Amino acid sequence: MNSVLVASNRGPVSFTVSEDGVLTMKRGGGGLVSGLSGVTKNVGVLWVCAALSDGDRSAVRQTPGGRLDQAGYDTGALRMLDIPPATFHRAYNAVANSTLWFVNHLLYDIPNSPRFGTRFQREWESYRDYNGAFALALAEEAGHEARVMVQDYHLTLTPAMLRAERPDLRIAHFSHTPWAPPEYFSLLPDEVAREVLEGILGADHAGFLTERWAGAFMDCCRFLLGAEIDRAGRTITHEGRTTRIGVHPLGVDGAALRDRAGEPDVESHMTALREQVGDRRLIVRIDRTELSKNIVRGLLAYREFLAAHPEWHGRVVHLAFAYPSRHDLPEYREYTASVQRCAQEIEDEYATEDWDPLILNVDDDYPRSLAAYRMADVLLVNPIRDGMNLVAKEGPILSPTAALVLSREAGAAAELGDDALLVNPYDVSGTAAALHEALVMPVEERERRRDRLAAAATALPPQQWLAAQLDALNYDLR
Ligand code: G6P
Repeated sequence: MNSVLVASNRGPVSFTVSEDGVLTMKRGGGGLVSGLSGVTKNVGVLWVCAALSDGDRSAVRQTPGGRLDQAGYDTGALRMLDIPPATFHRAYNAVANSTLWFVNHLLYDIPNSPRFGTRFQREWESYRDYNGAFALALAEEAGHEARVMVQDYHLTLTPAMLRAERPDLRIAHFSHTPWAPPEYFSLLPDEVAREVLEGILGADHAGFLTERWAGAFMDCCRFLLGAEIDRAGRTITHEGRTTRIGVHPLGVDGAALRDRAGEPDVESHMTALREQVGDRRLIVRIDRTELSKNIVRGLLAYREFLAAHPEWHGRVVHLAFAYPSRHDLPEYREYTASVQRCAQEIEDEYATEDWDPLILNVDDDYPRSLAAYRMADVLLVNPIRDGMNLVAKEGPILSPTAALVLSREAGAAAELGDDALLVNPYDVSGTAAALHEALVMPVEERERRRDRLAAAATALPPQQWLAAQLDALNYDLR
């Protein structure tokens, strides 16, 4: 039996299956997985995740009990759950990504959506079943009084379900996203809003990336559940149980990142990029193509900057890496198309025979991203809203002199705000002005700021972040 368990929708690895049935394993993506992967493997944690694709399902079906490590894969202790595809699809795409993600990132086009009708009720049932499958697996795998760390908006109901099964366990939930203020959170049908909040309150400890998101969660519990909040003591008491609230601002393992970025594949990407852009200054952005990342307004800001500053024509290039994400959702496919359209318009307007003002790349390439960080003069991170944003933290660690233009709505702004150029993500002209300010900032000033940014970015590396949450579970409140 296991004494420490982690549960998340996406696991540390995913599989693709070729036509002749051969399985290939690769590492999973996204903030949560990058944060956890490096650390769980070494400390004997059992990770429970869902099979996300046909490739994952084939791998699980060839593995007794879904324990991939026991089938010889080098994954660390890992159990992958084979949840029926239709249930998974409704829970992951319809509820987690199209509803809870939209609520917490304030993404709805309110006059038209959301619409919670009978279809949503079925989707919500599936979300319950999917959360229940995790609770069941965790209840089976956890040893007596084990500590269980449940991750993110996919699994908000699991803590309460697991507690009902196994009251002996010490349970934590961690939200890697922002949390919505009560007036926006209450767009959800009342009983759904209640179930989500009470699901998380089933944990002993609910963790958030910043004070701001923790505060919003407490406000929701107060206004929607009538729970008793102790802000200073960071507790929520509801129906006789108390849940502690923790703020754990996930950071980056600077040494590991620098080592990786020093490898030959990164160096050769640097050489290739240098050939492409010459000695021009570089404005870099690196994102998954998420609606919340605000890529279109970022491109519009670059366009306004070019319009306002002809003196920079031919002397600057914007490298925009926008990697594919959640392409099962039509909104995401449309968003990718509008990013491409906007980039094309900038090309049409400004490109000359010997100057490409914008290089948009939509194929995921990790070593090339690391090369771009190392070469950046300006790093643009302008999300509408973001739990943390690890790009804002990785950039200053790898770039010797880059200035950071950062959205004040990113969780990272809480720690990096003093040394970044903060922008309102909706203010295209303000962002354009910040890009210019970043480009003309004297190099000594950029270096000074970069040093402080890198120090803040490495303050709580994943190992310590995980340890802090495990420590938080040593207080027994029951
Ligand atoms: C981002 C968020 C995480 C989330 C992940 C899911 O990285 O910061 O909170 O868990 O996206 O992404 P996925 O590709 O699994 O839908």
